[in-house]
Amino acid sequence: MLTFCVLLSVLLVQAVPEKLILERVVVLSRHNVRSPLSQHLAEITPRPWPHWDEKSGYLTPKGVYLEGLMGDFFSKWLQNEGLLPQGCPEKDDVFVYANSKQRTKVTARAFVLKAFPGCNITVHIGDKSDPVFSPFVHNNTDTFKKEVLEKMQEVLDSLHLNSSYELLENILDYKDSDMCKTKLKCDLEMDMNKINEITAGEKPTVTGPLKICNTAIDAFKMEYYNGFSVPDVAWGELNNTRWETLSKLMEGYHNVIFNSTILAKDIALPLIKYMKDIFINKDTKFTLLMGHDANILTFVTGMRFKPYILPNQYEKAPIGGKIVFQKWLNGNGEYFLSIHYVYASTSQLRLGSKLSLMKPPQFKVLELQDCPVNNEGFCPWETFEKLLRDF
Ligand SMILES: *[C@@H]1O[C@H](CO)[C@@H](O)[C@H](O)[C@H]1NC(C)=O
Ligand SMILES: *[C@@H]1O[C@H](CO)[C@@H](O)[C@H](O)[C@H]1NC(C)=O
Ligand SMILES: *[C@@H]1O[C@H](CO)[C@@H](O)[C@H](O)[C@H]1NC(C)=O
Ligand SMILES: *[C@@H]1O[C@H](CO)[C@@H](O)[C@H](O)[C@H]1NC(C)=O
Ligand SMILES: *[C@@H]1O[C@H](CO)[C@@H](O)[C@H](O)[C@H]1NC(C)=O
Repeated sequence: MLTFCVLLSVLLVQAVPEKLILERVVVLSRHNVRSPLSQHLAEITPRPWPHWDEKSGYLTPKGVYLEGLMGDFFSKWLQNEGLLPQGCPEKDDVFVYANSKQRTKVTARAFVLKAFPGCNITVHIGDKSDPVFSPFVHNNTDTFKKEVLEKMQEVLDSLHLNSSYELLENILDYKDSDMCKTKLKCDLEMDMNKINEITAGEKPTVTGPLKICNTAIDAFKMEYYNGFSVPDVAWGELNNTRWETLSKLMEGYHNVIFNSTILAKDIALPLIKYMKDIFINKDTKFTLLMGHDANILTFVTGMRFKPYILPNQYEKAPIGGKIVFQKWLNGNGEYFLSIHYVYASTSQLRLGSKLSLMKPPQFKVLELQDCPVNNEGFCPWETFEKLLRDF
């Protein structure tokens, strides 16, 4: 499908289209649909939340199903490109590595089960404190902490979220929540967001309204994707405009904690170095790394991706979404990199739409600031390796 588009655009500028060969694919993925993470949802609204069968933060059967659709799509796509054979790939041609959390392990297994059915592909699991997927601060110097706090405060101060706060306050009936009645936090617009001390070995955190909003909106999204009935998705209060208004809160929250270059680079460095080793020293045909939104968000900022918008989604790191690095070879023996964000749209997630070459997931070209792409979305592989060597 992808080559088809590429061929089509090449066709327009030159008489003889060139067939590019796909040599390798490296995927950085977020796990699929899980139950809400927060234990504090009941405090922020008097309204009843729907019941989840799963433990908090666990992948749901719908999540398993959705990831299976992705696995099935990827194997068909990569077989179609000639990267992988029909049937089982050679053992050394596929490498799958997941964070040890239940949701990442089970997502990776769900992908593999449908991508390579009956092929006994191992899902490698990191240990509990696996640095590759731990979105923790490393730099322990006071200078660093001071710089980071300033940057985070800058991002926080730049947010204008009043109409979003107001909408969520109404949906939650926040003034009637325990948070208001017992903790006297009654006003999402006026209450203080507090950026907490930066501590090596921990995540950066902000407490206050933004965090509360993120928690609620995350729960709404999971309700929607998991297929809850309309009255059980934010109590039936949402439409497209309102989703957009609310999503700004989630994006703002993520921007404060993950989207300053100095901080993101520090957090993502072990992951970037791990991937650098794969890109430079390995030749596995298909690699899948299964982590979290925190990994993806710090990775894209740390690697200096250009800002991007993902059509038909409200998030910068959608559930089950994948950053897909592709190494291509042309007829002159030259290698190129192309990167796509491959993800299911909000409605593909909700409906559980089958994915195929004819009905693919969303493909959005991504670009690294230090590896500019041509009109077809390719950057010379050499340039990519050069920028990797700086990490
Ligand atoms: C599956 O793979 C594992 C690890 O490579 C190996 O130990 C095991 O014997 C394999 N099982 C089958 C049924 O081939
Ligand atoms: C820690 O941060 C300081 C201040 O930004 C920087 O000068 C130093 O190089 C960093 N140390 C490491 C190991 O990255
Ligand atoms: C947001 O609302 C608060 C409280 O109502 C108000 O003090 C503040 O000026 C508003 N900010 C903007 C940018 O409108
Ligand atoms: C969503 O609902 C709000 C409030 O009821 C309304 O003002 C807005 O026009 C609706 N938007 C869409 C796309 O239906
Ligand atoms: C990070 O912040 C920049 C600048 O505000 C913005 O353009 C970009 O979309 C943000 N990136 C993510 C992943 O949210």
